Amino acid sequence: MKNVLIIGSTGQIGSELTMKLRGIYGGANVVAGYIPGAEPKGELLESGPSEIVDITSPQQIADAVEKYNIDTIYNLAALLSAVAEAKPQLAWKIGIGGLFNTLEVAREKKCAVFTPSSIGAFGNDTPKDKTPQDTIRNPRTMYGVTKVSGELLSDYYHTRFGVDTRSVRFPGLISYVTPPGGGTTDYAVDIYYAAAKGETFECPIAAGTFMDMMYMPDALRAAIEIMEANPDNFVHRNSFNIASMSFDPEIIYAAIRKYVPDFKMVYKVDPLRQQIADSWPNSLDDSCARREWGWKPEYDLDTMTRDMLEKLKARFGK
Ligand code: SER
Repeated sequence: MKNVLIIGSTGQIGSELTMKLRGIYGGANVVAGYIPGAEPKGELLESGPSEIVDITSPQQIADAVEKYNIDTIYNLAALLSAVAEAKPQLAWKIGIGGLFNTLEVAREKKCAVFTPSSIGAFGNDTPKDKTPQDTIRNPRTMYGVTKVSGELLSDYYHTRFGVDTRSVRFPGLISYVTPPGGGTTDYAVDIYYAAAKGETFECPIAAGTFMDMMYMPDALRAAIEIMEANPDNFVHRNSFNIASMSFDPEIIYAAIRKYVPDFKMVYKVDPLRQQIADSWPNSLDDSCARREWGWKPEYDLDTMTRDMLEKLKARFGK
């Protein structure tokens, strides 16, 4: 990786990944692609170049790749699971139309492409515990349909055209920087904001619903390390299970109460999000990622909880 284009640089993952990549490869070598209405601001704007790159426009992708001599594209444009159910046509247009545009440019200009997949690629018939790397993927959400299709399309571009496509299946991502919007795992971010502000948290996911989660610093490292990895050791490409922790609302609530003893949580279950969560695995088996490119998480629930609360309490002056 020398010259990197991030499509979706102001989103939940992009805003942090862009800064991290600029720290590694130099600000001038990492281009922040954004859409009008989601412009980069502050440090993100000032630390390197930015360009309007709407993933639904093949020309805008090609122009940015040409202008900056890009060799690696991080394709982070997507709608999260609950929003994708409200806007399935748009979710497909961005998730698959956009991926196709990106892969076509990558084929012509010989770029490597990273595209996140998700625990959402799995469905009701997938084994729920320690979900294997290679197993049934039959999601019934548009988010999941775009993720499975995206995995297949990315593998196709690799085997058919030799495009260097790579991907991980992200669990729910937790961070204190840019909040997610409209995902099923968002509750595990929102709960920390409520705890840090001293508010009661209304949990939209029922007790006993386990999902895989990951702290953002581990997720960023995964996205960078897989693109830096020696592909000679790859058996898989699109997409690798990665994991670090799995919990239900009661477990994260207890983890927070260790540091905020008077914190209160009540349940107000959202039927759509609950249905989606019930269709996803409880936990993933990430042994292929560990074996094929050395994946290893650093954070667990307790170390993440301490860091989240410290950072958010400082922000809210608590
Ligand atoms: N965080 C995503 C969502 O909840 C799952 O990958 O939609």
